Parts: sequence; C-alpha cells; structure tokens
Amino acid sequence: RRENKRRAERVDGADPRNKLPSPASSLPTDPALYSGPFPFYRRPSELGCFSLDAQRQYHGDAQALRYYSPPPTNDQGPNFDLRDGYPDRYQPRDEEVQERLDHLLRWLLDHRGKLEGGPGWLAGAIVTWRGHLTKLLTTPYEQQEGWQLAASRFQGTLYLSEVETPAARAQRLARPPLLRELMYMGYKFEQYMCADKPGSSPDPSGEVNTNVAFCSVLRSRLGSHRLLFSGEVDCTDPRAASTQPPACYVELKTSKEMHRPGHWRSFYRHKLLKWWAQSFLLGVPNVVAGFRNPEGFVCSLKTFPTMEMFEYVRNDRDGWNPSVCMNFCAAFLSFAQNTVVQDDPRLVHLFSWEPGSPVTVSKHRDAPYAFLPMWYVEAVTR
Ligand code: A3P
Ligand code: MG
Ligand code: MG
Repeated sequence: RRENKRRAERVDGADPRNKLPSPASSLPTDPALYSGPFPFYRRPSELGCFSLDAQRQYHGDAQALRYYSPPPTNDQGPNFDLRDGYPDRYQPRDEEVQERLDHLLRWLLDHRGKLEGGPGWLAGAIVTWRGHLTKLLTTPYEQQEGWQLAASRFQGTLYLSEVETPAARAQRLARPPLLRELMYMGYKFEQYMCADKPGSSPDPSGEVNTNVAFCSVLRSRLGSHRLLFSGEVDCTDPRAASTQPPACYVELKTSKEMHRPGHWRSFYRHKLLKWWAQSFLLGVPNVVAGFRNPEGFVCSLKTFPTMEMFEYVRNDRDGWNPSVCMNFCAAFLSFAQNTVVQDDPRLVHLFSWEPGSPVTVSKHRDAPYAFLPMWYVEAVTR
C-alpha cells in the first residue's frame, strides 16, 4: 500500500525533492489512493460537431442529430417492444473496422486554425474520445474488463486511442446471440424516444442502423490537463431549459426492470457509475432510462439527473466516489504526459491495464499500434 502511494506521488511529479522526476513505470489503480478532494473540471463547452451517415461516412454537420420525443405522460405509459425489427430491420456497424481517432482527426483538421485559445492551445492538449475517458474514470472500480490505450505525441499534442484487447476481441467474436439482440434493443429504445425533426414524432417502423451517429466535439480541462474530446450524443431536447449544447443533450439507456431493493442497490453501484462517468464528462445533464421486462418491453421510464447520481451511493460503503474517478483520471493523464516525451507520430506508448493490477507501459513503433493516419500527419506537417 505504501509503495503504491509513493509511486502515485512520483507519477504526478509532485515530489519537490526531485527536480526531474524520472517517469514511473506503472500506475496503481486502488480507489483508496485517489480519495482526495474533487479536482477542477472545467464545464465542457462544445466546439463543434460532426455526423456519420448510414454508410459511416463523415459529414461536418449535425445531420444525424435526433430530437428527444418521449411518449405523452397522460396515458398508461410506454409499451415499447425492443425486439421488434430484429434481425430483419437491423443494420449493425461493422465492428471489424477499427476507426481509431480518424473521424475526430478529420474534424480537427477542418477546425484547428479556428480553435479558441489560440494556436498554442492544441499543442498543450490531450485529444481523445469521451468513451476512452469514461473507461479511465471507472477504472478504480472496474473488476471485469481491462483496457489498452495507445498514446502518441505529435506537435506537442498527446493523442490517446483505445486498442481492443485480445480478450475483448475474443468476446466480441464469440458474442452469444442473446447479447447481440440485447445490443440491438439498446438502439431500438433510441428509435422509440427520438424524432428526426424537432416537434415531430418517433417512427419505429424504419431500420435501426448503428452506423449513424451524431458526435459533439468539446473542450474542457481536468486539473492542469487541457482536453479536446468527442462523444456520441443520443439526442437533444428541444424543450430543455437551456438550448445551449451540451446542456440540451439527453443520454438514453435501457436496463432490466427491477423488483427488489437488492437489484436497485447493485444497479446504483455498477450501472449508475458508468452512466454517470459517460454523461458527466460531456456535460449531459440527464439520463433517461427505459426499464425492460423479461419479454423485452419497456413499460416504465425514469430520468436520472447526472448531478444526482452520486446521491444513490453516497452512504454506501461499497459505492463509488466521483472524486476517486476524476483523481485517477488526472493521475493517469499526468502519467501519460510524463511517459510520452518524444514527439513522434510513429511512436506509440501502449498503456495496458487488467483488473487487480497497476497500469503498465510498453513501447512500439509503426504498425500495428501507430494510429495517427498519414493523411493527418502530412496535412498538419506542411
Ligand atoms: P443501452 O445503453 O441502453 O444498453 P449508449 O447508451 O452509449 O448510447 O449506447 C447505445 C447502445 O449501444 C446501448 O444501449 C447498447 O445496446 C449498445 N452498446 C453500447 N456500448 C456497448 C458495449 N460496450 N457492449 C454492448 N453493447 C453496447
Ligand atoms: Mg449513444
Ligand atoms: Mg445511450
């Protein structure tokens, strides 16, 4: 425990006795090491957005944004058949295609000259997907799935891109039919809750195509770490109190209907942590959950304000703590910044983590780990 703590301090370079702290070789993840006060997190502001169409093609606009359109509250409540249309009206995205940071880099290429904060801002920033940061936030509490993050420094900026672990790949390729259908059901719920235009009604008769995505690009800061990241947004609420993104965005989720206090306890401890991490990072104020019964019908909805989620576990000794999540994330970003010193788009430091172990690092050059595409490197270099 004490050895772990010493390493954690060294990673932050906080020890004043070491003018040039040598980079640590690993980072512990025990929650007890990160329970200090909540660190500074700048309210995320939207810099722009992009859309991916039914063929997964990039568009630098909001064409894929959908509008929150819940069922009227005056009647008996919803009765959404989440299995309807499976598998005949399902066009799943090809998960064999590793897109890495490509779509975000495309956006960045189009906007890097116009970024607020001036030309120097990007050089001191970390560029990544919100989903990667979500995994970092939940790491101190995660007991099932490890992760790998590839990191490259290029013109000062630190880029972080997830690598699918061999275990995750094996699981994906062997995904049982019931899990495939469950994945579909999550997207089907979105179709029941969203309209294509503000003020119109959802149309659940069409196909579910998971190539389509609307992504917000945001700027924030965690401690001293400037962040530029993008995340998929399910929909915007045209009737939200604030029409300004990300405050108007709504995250949609499905979960099993619960009937016993023990089910709810476990839901607060595990699922709500992931929901909180995902929505808090992007500044999404509300998560709307649809609870499905064993037949796959959603018969009840509940809105969870992101800023109230922690209250469900505040007095639970086996609960999670937002400070731990954010402090660990900040410590990891410091660890990565101190480890990836050389500025070289072909060089990759691969950070690997498995539950029960510290984060470790290995060094690689070019394929298969290098992830900054030539079109990006060349466009930025000239
Ligand atoms: P649910 O979250 O309702 O299960 P998101 O909630 O992030 O907008 O993702 C939409 C849906 O994609 C999810 O709906 C789920 O069906 C599927 N999905 C997302 N991440 C997944 C993962 N890691 N494993 C399996 N399915 C996932
Ligand atoms: Mg989504
Ligand atoms: Mg969702």
